[in-house]
Amino acid sequence: MAVTQPASSPVEPRAATVRNPYSVLPNWLYPTFVVVALSLFALYAAWVVLFFKDGRFGPYLSPFNSPEFRVAIAGFAIPTGIWIFWIPLVFRFTCYYYRKAIFRSYLWHPRSCAVQEPSRGTYQGETRLFVFDNLHRFTFYIVVLQVAVLWYDAIAAFISNGAFHFGLGTALMLVNVVCLSGYTFGCHAFRHLAGGGLDCFSCHRARYRLWKGVTVLNIRHDRWAWVSMFTVWGVDLYIRLLQLEVLPRGAWN
Ligand code: FES
Repeated sequence: MAVTQPASSPVEPRAATVRNPYSVLPNWLYPTFVVVALSLFALYAAWVVLFFKDGRFGPYLSPFNSPEFRVAIAGFAIPTGIWIFWIPLVFRFTCYYYRKAIFRSYLWHPRSCAVQEPSRGTYQGETRLFVFDNLHRFTFYIVVLQVAVLWYDAIAAFISNGAFHFGLGTALMLVNVVCLSGYTFGCHAFRHLAGGGLDCFSCHRARYRLWKGVTVLNIRHDRWAWVSMFTVWGVDLYIRLLQLEVLPRGAWN
């Protein structure tokens, strides 16, 4: 794409505006959306984890509180979400997609392709402050266990008081765990586990097939990341509204 350069000047030339050939949307829109959505979600998560002692309503259990660890210290019940919240938090914060989103949106490093950023030092990658990004593959192992527990919760929600039950909460929990699975099993670290370090795919058919399956999810990893974040948010909000009796209890829920 042609960019007009100013004639030579002793003054540092201003960066010319370059249009993104893949989108007609303004380049501030995506970073703004990321900052607003992630910040609101973080505030909501802090409210839920700190101020609700559990996340259960009938057969429904919030993903913020699963698995349930009930611990009381000196008679004070510790909110069950305290033991859980850090696992998905570290997993998402170190996710390859969220790193890009955070760098672009919160740090403007850079804000978008072909947009000049404020002058900074050399990019340090996964060193110094960002060495904790290397935790990602380890949190993946823990999150896999957590997703297995959430599948159990979603299936268990079909039983209420010993009888079959299907309500809006059951459907939301099911959709949520499907989306979380799509996000988790499309992880770049998992893709590397499946197919990395191989010189000969045909010698390892099982790993090659697994790698192809992970790749299908991985191609849309950013979409899975957002959708699963909103489904976690949605299912939890639904349970909180029931707990707080904002939503009336009925056969449908
Ligand atoms: Fe996003 Fe692993 S890279 S979850």
